Amino acid sequence: MKRIAAISEMRAARDALAAPVGFVPTMGALHAGHASLVARARAECASVVASVFVNPLQFGPHEDYDRYPRALAADSEKLARLGADVLFAPAAAEMFTPDSGFAVTPGSVAAHLEGARRPHFFSGVATAVLKLFNIVRADRAYFGQKDAQQLAVIRQMVADLDLAIDVVGCPTVRESDGLALSSRNAYLNADERREAVRLSRALELIARRLSSAPNALAPHAQDVTRVIQEAEAALPPLKLDYLAVVDPRRFEPLTRVPPKTPLLAVGAAFAGTTRLIDNVEFRTP
Ligand code: PAF
Repeated sequence: MKRIAAISEMRAARDALAAPVGFVPTMGALHAGHASLVARARAECASVVASVFVNPLQFGPHEDYDRYPRALAADSEKLARLGADVLFAPAAAEMFTPDSGFAVTPGSVAAHLEGARRPHFFSGVATAVLKLFNIVRADRAYFGQKDAQQLAVIRQMVADLDLAIDVVGCPTVRESDGLALSSRNAYLNADERREAVRLSRALELIARRLSSAPNALAPHAQDVTRVIQEAEAALPPLKLDYLAVVDPRRFEPLTRVPPKTPLLAVGAAFAGTTRLIDNVEFRTP
């Protein structure tokens, strides 16, 4: 596996790779969720490029950019073992100079939920991902469904800006108790780790209620507001940020669910000071 830090070198290496080229953009601190993306790219593409770049544009002023876990040596070993051909790991100054000013403004898919709570986040993600797409020029890019709104924003960017790349969404990888894998899980102490599972349980509850038809035992099965209140009550000691039900392409919170429709229960909550996000897919009856 080649390890590359310079954009010019990445461009040159790309020209020598066999097509189709699969690309897995990451911020490093790789876990089994990332490994599943690399394995999928490896299975579907002739060449695989992974990037490790902790993107400063997607962190707010009081967020965890400085303490975000960085483990480039271990990441590099993991990627080599998984069969990646190239690891692109640029420094922040290689990607963004003090003169860099242009940015991607995402559309309405970024307006609510994560976009409302973290105003810089999706513009920062989209700007970095667009640059990475232009540098790597892959045929396919692999993203985790765990960051479902990010996946929707990237799909919409690719559609709206006519980018010549296929976006592949891959299933969330979970711990045995249901907690979605995330590099930020490393921040959790033992109590917080035990409590963290309450987020996926709350989302499962919403999905279960709204995917069953109302009946004598559950006459309010389709009442979104009630169902979300019930799930919120099951969160403590996690601190609620939001729970919502959305169409997976639009990401606007719904108060009524249409019949026979694939939807997502999405949520964010704090375990101590660590912010967790997750989502569960379901279909209405
Ligand atoms: O999901 C991530 O790790 C990041 O948001 C991404 C897509 C690599 C962009 O920096």
